[in-house]
Amino acid sequence: MRARVLCEVLLLLALLVLLPVTSIASVRSPGGAGTELIRDDFPLDFIFGSGTSAYQVEGAAAEDGRTPSVWDTGAHAGKVANGSTADITCDGYHKYKDDIKLMKELGLKGYRFSISWSRLIPKGRGDVNPKGLQFYNDFINELIGNGIQPHVTLFHYDLPQALEDEYQGWLSPKIVDDFTAYADVCFKEFGDRVSYWTTLNEPNFLALAGYDTGIFPPFRCSSRFGRNCSIGDSTLEPYIVGYHCILAHAEVATLYRRKYQVIQKGFIGLNVFVYHFTSLTNSTRDVAAAQRAYDFYTGWFVNPLVNGDYPSTMKERTGNKMPSFSVYQSEYIKGSFDFLGVNHYATVWVSDVSSDNSSTYERDFGFDMSVKLTVFGMQGMLEHFKNVYGNPPIYIHENGYSTPQNSSLEDTPRVEYLKMNIGSLLDAVRNGSNARGYFTWSFLDVFELNDGYQSSFGLYHVDFEDKELTRRPKLSARWYSHFLKGGHNNIVSVSVSNNSNPSEALA
Ligand SMILES: *[C@@H]1O[C@H](CO)[C@@H](O)[C@H](O)[C@H]1NC(C)=O
Ligand SMILES: *[C@@H]1O[C@H](CO)[C@@H](O)[C@H](O)[C@H]1NC(C)=O
Ligand SMILES: *[C@@H]1O[C@H](CO)[C@@H](O)[C@H](O)[C@H]1NC(C)=O
Ligand SMILES: *[C@@H]1O[C@H](CO)[C@@H](O)[C@H](O)[C@H]1NC(C)=O
Ligand SMILES: *[C@@H]1O[C@H](CO)[C@@H](O)[C@H](O)[C@H]1NC(C)=O
Ligand SMILES: *[C@@H]1O[C@H](CO)[C@@H](O)[C@H](O)[C@H]1NC(C)=O
Ligand SMILES: *[C@@H]1O[C@H](CO)[C@@H](O)[C@H](O)[C@H]1NC(C)=O
Repeated sequence: MRARVLCEVLLLLALLVLLPVTSIASVRSPGGAGTELIRDDFPLDFIFGSGTSAYQVEGAAAEDGRTPSVWDTGAHAGKVANGSTADITCDGYHKYKDDIKLMKELGLKGYRFSISWSRLIPKGRGDVNPKGLQFYNDFINELIGNGIQPHVTLFHYDLPQALEDEYQGWLSPKIVDDFTAYADVCFKEFGDRVSYWTTLNEPNFLALAGYDTGIFPPFRCSSRFGRNCSIGDSTLEPYIVGYHCILAHAEVATLYRRKYQVIQKGFIGLNVFVYHFTSLTNSTRDVAAAQRAYDFYTGWFVNPLVNGDYPSTMKERTGNKMPSFSVYQSEYIKGSFDFLGVNHYATVWVSDVSSDNSSTYERDFGFDMSVKLTVFGMQGMLEHFKNVYGNPPIYIHENGYSTPQNSSLEDTPRVEYLKMNIGSLLDAVRNGSNARGYFTWSFLDVFELNDGYQSSFGLYHVDFEDKELTRRPKLSARWYSHFLKGGHNNIVSVSVSNNSNPSEALA
């Protein structure tokens, strides 16, 4: 059983984001057969966009004063993504004006991207890099000039290597002050034009992939739970990292509210990686297991923000391992968000396997949770936030479908996936969900954290073999554009030409 649970957790962490085709069947489309989905089915102020992250799209890794992040170091050591790096990737650093032109033509109203901390503040703290500052100012101005709202994530996995070297990054409470100082620079420099700030992307996945299974930098784990790590402790470190992430988020949210929000009138939130968990059978044990899976994956971070503490199931099952919040911290954390961002890709069937009775100090996250996850929609997940967390404003920050890199531009499975998920989202909104926006992952084919350039999620294909890194719209780009512009034809029947001028091809 140990081996099986380990396997499930590793599999989910490493591979589930590369979404299995079978999950499509679990999401129904709204409004009955034959009814076409259009943007105007949603409220006027609902925002539709797409996204990327700094390390995955920018390239220019050693240019204009940027220093390595833990991802650069890991990639150069050949430890991630099948040996590839994002040194160049889409070269978004130089090609951003053309990319924003494509976004505008596509009809995006929002773009979600992250700031490279080590481009803006190369040593992790202290001096600001003027060229980094210039780049993000230019980028933000270009978006706004094209009518696209920037949705900015401050941290998307790419911790400055300098801080990892100095005090082990997220394992140290020192990260809280440095992250807050970095955020302060961002609010001060960009906050006059940026209204949507996300502190951390997927801290739950960061804690698990970086410190339990060890598949992401900084590659820490215990050998019996993770993969080939030279150092780490899967039974404790994910919880310590989670704790520091929550404190860092709360500190930054408090700073924003105290110093900037009144003047800048923006919003701040936290992002989490979220499955929809549903029980495999109606047995009491499996129903409880599904709830427990929600508590472990989502409640770990969302419950402190909403209620000031970890979920009780999680505290019970982890014994004394989770660093606890003082009364002061608890009050400080509670309510420290204006919205939640969720990255949602799949539904998972859950059954109970909690007969393991080893001491909690011999168990990692997977064993503490003790559920069996079997891979098998959107609405169920949003209903959960409505019922359990008081229906906070939610932005779907990521949702998308993986196909092999270089596969057909006629990406019908991705179109079907988007249709069904947006349809399910519409069902949720009509049933009272407070969802406010939706961003596909990803705008372009980018360097994927799980496997580099082997798979792709983009609406636009990027030819990584071509020096020009040519972007070409896939069928999914046409479908999304058609949806956003309120078209009336069934776009799936429109053929895709392989036109080397992407803007013409989309027209
Ligand atoms: C890893 O890269 C090698 C060489 O580029 C390639 O042959 C192989 O298929 C890749 N493996 C995976 C799992 O993508
Ligand atoms: C484990 O690490 C060793 C030493 O760094 C390396 O040679 C080996 O390929 C790694 N194995 C896997 C499965 O990653
Ligand atoms: C659980 O019970 C509900 C309501 O009785 C039913 O609709 C559903 O199909 C059952 N689920 C399973 C997995 O048996
Ligand atoms: C663990 O539980 C099993 C039954 O589920 C029992 O047979 C075994 O003795 C228990 N082990 C310990 C160390 O309590
Ligand atoms: C719609 O919302 C109501 C009230 O929250 C809830 O009881 C019901 O289960 C929801 N419908 C679906 C399909 O989830
Ligand atoms: C993509 O196609 C190009 C040209 O056909 C090829 O050289 C390259 O290896 C392919 N890349 C991947 C990741 O399969
Ligand atoms: C698109 O066309 C170009 C030039 O004809 C060709 O080299 C390339 O492989 C094609 N790309 C795809 C993804 O079909």
